[in-house]
Amino acid sequence: MGSSPSSSSVVFAVLFLVFNAAVLCHGGKTSSFVRKVEKTVDMPLDSDVFRVPPGYNAPQQVHITQGDHAGKAVIVSWVTANEPGSKKVIYWSENSEHKEEAEGKVYTYEFYNYKSGYIHHCTIRNLEFNTKYYYVVGVGHTERTFWFTTPPAVGPDVPYTFGLIGDLGQSYDSNITVTHYENNPTKGQAVLFVGDLSYADNYPNHDNVRWDTWGRFVERSAAYQPWIWTAGNHEIDFVPEIGETIPFKPYTNRYQVPYRASQTYGKYTPQYKWLEQELPKVNRSETPWLIVLMHSPWYNSYNYHYMEGETMRVMYEAWFVKYKVDVVFAGHVHAYERSERVSNIAYNIVNGKCVPVRDQTAPVYITIGDGGNLEGLATNMTYPQPEYSAYREASFGHAIFDIKNRTHAFYGWHRNQDGYAVEADTMWFSNRYWHPG
Ligand SMILES: *[C@@H]1O[C@H](CO)[C@@H](O)[C@H](O)[C@H]1NC(C)=O
Ligand SMILES: *[C@@H]1O[C@H](CO)[C@@H](O)[C@H](O)[C@H]1NC(C)=O
Ligand SMILES: *[C@@H]1O[C@H](CO)[C@@H](O)[C@H](O)[C@H]1NC(C)=O
Ligand SMILES: *[C@@H]1O[C@H](CO)[C@@H](O)[C@H](O)[C@H]1NC(C)=O
Ligand SMILES: [Fe+2]
Repeated sequence: MGSSPSSSSVVFAVLFLVFNAAVLCHGGKTSSFVRKVEKTVDMPLDSDVFRVPPGYNAPQQVHITQGDHAGKAVIVSWVTANEPGSKKVIYWSENSEHKEEAEGKVYTYEFYNYKSGYIHHCTIRNLEFNTKYYYVVGVGHTERTFWFTTPPAVGPDVPYTFGLIGDLGQSYDSNITVTHYENNPTKGQAVLFVGDLSYADNYPNHDNVRWDTWGRFVERSAAYQPWIWTAGNHEIDFVPEIGETIPFKPYTNRYQVPYRASQTYGKYTPQYKWLEQELPKVNRSETPWLIVLMHSPWYNSYNYHYMEGETMRVMYEAWFVKYKVDVVFAGHVHAYERSERVSNIAYNIVNGKCVPVRDQTAPVYITIGDGGNLEGLATNMTYPQPEYSAYREASFGHAIFDIKNRTHAFYGWHRNQDGYAVEADTMWFSNRYWHPG
């Protein structure tokens, strides 16, 4: 959608190495897989996954995200229903008896006729790398204990595994996507989420109760590993007809991130200036892999949101090529698609060079908006399949980006109808900085 989300509509993650002598191109495959045709339906309010945890003022909707640039801080968030309760998080590393505490802040907001619970955000800092921590929230009322493992210190050959989920929503299919992610034998250590979380805005007056149910639904993963957020159009919640004129109000109250949002989008805006300064700062000797997340895809051959990413592509694509971005993940289109390495940056108004061309210095573009939300699958594709499109399929699923070292990463897309270990589309990535070719 082009609106700029919380810490960004563009997010980097950094990591390692690779090369690949194999031919990357599948020559443009439109999968013939026969997917389910039933309607995608939201889970009812009394579903098991939406259950409120028992006990007075018990913390619910617990989730964590990375709390600083290096990975030594975590933001712990939760909601209490009855009263604010303690703002404390008590935490300790598995190697230590010594318990530490941190104190956070409580937020509430109103949305039309809805009043939120007490939304807690607490940043815990100075953590050791690569260490398992336990943490307790709900101190003094109903205590609940969770755990997470911090990422390793940055370095050129540190393996790390990301899950990729987009446009998740809270349907039965969304639940299957999360279940497949949890049961994937290649265990994701953090989720890169490409936007569109709860789809509460599809309910009358954007019924924010569906933001709460979504928070309870994803707790089983998001309380134990960081989910790195990108905002999508379903986070905007701008409804002047009912007096709701602050964009992203529910989202920003519920999903805090460590850096300020740029708020604007377009040439010369804060987002533009931020990205212009940020890209050259990425030190590929420390963090070999450069990954960008955005909501609306630039290279999309479905008949949905067609060319919506175009204004952003025109602004930023040349930078992505120049700074050797490895891969760009997007959502928005409720299907799966992977591109060849292509760019379309030669056009200068007079030279007529305005088609995507194969470009080994360019990123791969992956649309992973197939989390399973109630709007259903995007099944209508453009024909013929464009040259730049390597693989496309309208099925729900998730992906894993598994960084092995500075030159290699293994990528696999999993569809929900298959067994947990089955990959329906795979690619060895060779790092654009360390092993272009
Ligand atoms: C969601 O998935 C979990 C894990 O497979 C399962 O236990 C639960 O019953 C499912 N709930 C619904 C409403 O589908
Ligand atoms: C990049 O990181 C390497 C390894 O830490 C360091 O030696 C180098 O000076 C850094 N480069 C810049 C431009 O900061
Ligand atoms: C697919 O999309 C095209 C372009 O928007 C439209 O003309 C066509 O009717 C659609 N087909 C179906 C089956 O919806
Ligand atoms: C990087 O990982 C790939 C894939 O596992 C492996 O083939 C390669 O030897 C590794 N490179 C180094 C320098 O370890
Ligand atoms: Fe979307």
